[in-house]
Amino acid sequence: MSKTATLQIDDASFEIPVIVGSEGEKALDITRLRQQTGYITLDSGYGNTGACLSSITYIDGDAGILRYRGIDIAELCEKSTFMEVSYLLIYGHLPTAEQFLHFKERVHHHSLIHEDMKSFFTSYPGHAHPMAILSAMVCSLSVYHPKLLEPDQSPEDRDETVTRLLSKLRVLAAFAYKRSVGEAFVYTKPELDYLSNFLHMMFTTPMNEYFPDELIRKTLDVLFIVHADHEQNCSTSTVRMVGSSKANLFASLSAGICALWGPLHGGANQAVIEMLEAIQADGGNHKKYIELAKDKSSPFRLMGFGHRVYRNYDPRAQLLKTYCDKVLTHLGVSDPILDIAKALEEAALSDNYFVEKKLYPNVDFYSGIIYRALNIPTNMFTVMFALGRLPGWIAHWKEMIEDPGMKIARPRQIYTGETLQAYTPIEER
Ligand code: SDX
Repeated sequence: MSKTATLQIDDASFEIPVIVGSEGEKALDITRLRQQTGYITLDSGYGNTGACLSSITYIDGDAGILRYRGIDIAELCEKSTFMEVSYLLIYGHLPTAEQFLHFKERVHHHSLIHEDMKSFFTSYPGHAHPMAILSAMVCSLSVYHPKLLEPDQSPEDRDETVTRLLSKLRVLAAFAYKRSVGEAFVYTKPELDYLSNFLHMMFTTPMNEYFPDELIRKTLDVLFIVHADHEQNCSTSTVRMVGSSKANLFASLSAGICALWGPLHGGANQAVIEMLEAIQADGGNHKKYIELAKDKSSPFRLMGFGHRVYRNYDPRAQLLKTYCDKVLTHLGVSDPILDIAKALEEAALSDNYFVEKKLYPNVDFYSGIIYRALNIPTNMFTVMFALGRLPGWIAHWKEMIEDPGMKIARPRQIYTGETLQAYTPIEER
């Protein structure tokens, strides 16, 4: 007998079904609330609203837990690779050796983009933000694959679309970077793995072929694994929202990239570095900025701090903090803004304002410091987030599209505007 909750409205009471998830999370199923009661719910920012049932990622914000398909993020970072985690998120299980080999071959097979698209890049001014280029290019990719635009693709065609996008997004990102620095585009090499190829395309020049060493490659694996999914965050919910109209995967992802760009979301990694650089330029007085972040009359927020779900330390920030030290030591880089970041974190975590509001460093707080050490320019940081989040976006789009009960997303509202009034001719206004 499934559990229900009783809703009392005036002298009428209504039984609302209760849903319990595999980790014990509970929800009131209000799918029929309006038909039952004539009421809707209001939840600006959806902080208390579940948009769907999903089996991809589990987060326990209070305990600081993050698992992809039930496997803890720390174990995946230690033992897996971004390619394997992409397979896990998209197909729901770790691949066999044969499945993984086929998957990697398919991804490598799609490593080229139509040569026509190169001229799209050169039409942008050199200062164009790579997120603007990336979202436009993802949508433009669909022009070259009209068959993949069909709303009801076969599973085989859907797989082809997925591997195409997995392979080509890093090419589009690398080409956007090369455009911004005025260098020739570089192509993938069959002997390199997915992420080594990305760095090879980014940093190879006619004078020097770039091949990342083992620690750099592992660091990028960890960076991309921790970004790979995060259940119904703003950009993933955007991908689901757009995909729910049966718009194709390219269009849905293009919208997701735009949502990620915001400084409250994926754009925070760029904003963190700009904040740390501003503190450094202002004499490194981090305490002044802690006070500013607490001052309600100031618009300043501690970028890279706080989270809608985590009310504990973001496990991803924990992992990246250890890699910060490893990478900077390995590269012989001593970056003063890492010291500022650590001093800022220490001061915040012992300050009542942050402790009471449960504001901890999130995934964006340390990621930018590692990207900087890898010589990735600040305006490419959110592109790196998008590359990492790609398998998560795809997994959620696929989970939704394959749900026979899928409906177009169409939230309601409570109207607070003018009641009925007549049109007044302009001469009477
Ligand atoms: C990501 O959703 C996801 O999963 C996202 C993500 C993912 O993987 O997809 O984890 C990636 O987007 C991480 C978040 C990156 N953004 C930032 O680092 C930007 C700085 N942080 C914030 O702006 C803020 O913390 C949010 C946007 C992340 C969360 O905002 P909420 O949940 O809407 O919380 P809130 O704005 O209601 O804040 C609650 C209180 C407020 O004070 P009061 O009004 O209660 O007095 O905490 C304060 C806020 O003013 N607060 C901060 C703060 N974050 C919240 N005060 C100072 N500095 C901050 N960073």
